[in-house]
Amino acid sequence: MTMLPSPRRFTSDAATGAAYDHGAHVVEWTPAGHAPVLWMSGASRFDMASAIRGGVPICLPWFGAGRSLDLAPAHGFARIRTWFVSEATTTPAGTTVRYNLELAPSEVFPHSLNAEYLVVFGTELALELTVTNPGTDAFTIEEALHTYIAVGDIHSVVVSGLDGCAYLDKAPEAPATAVVQQGDIVFTDETDRVYSSTGDVVITDPLLKRRIIVSKTNSANTVVWNPWIAKAAAMPDFGDDEWTGMLCVEGANALGDAITVEPGASHTMSYRLRVEAL
Ligand code: BG6
Repeated sequence: MTMLPSPRRFTSDAATGAAYDHGAHVVEWTPAGHAPVLWMSGASRFDMASAIRGGVPICLPWFGAGRSLDLAPAHGFARIRTWFVSEATTTPAGTTVRYNLELAPSEVFPHSLNAEYLVVFGTELALELTVTNPGTDAFTIEEALHTYIAVGDIHSVVVSGLDGCAYLDKAPEAPATAVVQQGDIVFTDETDRVYSSTGDVVITDPLLKRRIIVSKTNSANTVVWNPWIAKAAAMPDFGDDEWTGMLCVEGANALGDAITVEPGASHTMSYRLRVEAL
């Protein structure tokens, strides 16, 4: 198995960060004066065939097993391809890194697709994913910036901003129909939900004494995921006891909100994180 080379590391007055060309995968963002914001599994694989567990996986051109529920690899192949770095610029305000990927038609996704991913490691982490259709036929994609946030203890974390939003519950034994969020989210079991939401979400973490604000544009869905005990134990690249220290709050366009990109057209989704001390 070919192991990944070391990640690129970026340091400015505003933040430190790191990313692998494999998947254009951001694995660290630490704004000055704060603890690291992103979570990484100690059991992650770092080989060419695997997705990295933690940081910000890019799900593209489908989410999960896709709308047909039978696509592989899970979350599409962009997170296990090598992206090309076309720019890396550091100023005191932060580092900007531009990644590009050209996907050739394949059996499972028979279209050419170009992706550009702009990452700014600054006082905010700013992520912008642009998908362009260079071909002559329209295609439809799902996409997600599958951000893993480090938390003190998931039992004490509160997520606000999704009150009144409908969601599809993907957790075991959940109802098959959409339900509506009542109030804030607290975590007491496996949580795997695709919300219809474009607004800001706030993660309040009393143990780490911080609040993390997630903002998005052109993203119809916010996915909230914590695997809890059994699913964590079932994942070989996820430590059995690590689930208490993480939470995914993802910007996405998935399921009924998949995006059709016409020939010659582009679609851009952005996702930003900022941190405030409590
Ligand atoms: C989430 C999905 O986005 O990603 C979950 O909603 C899934 O269902 C999780 O388990 C992790 O996926 P993977 O493929 O990285 O193990």
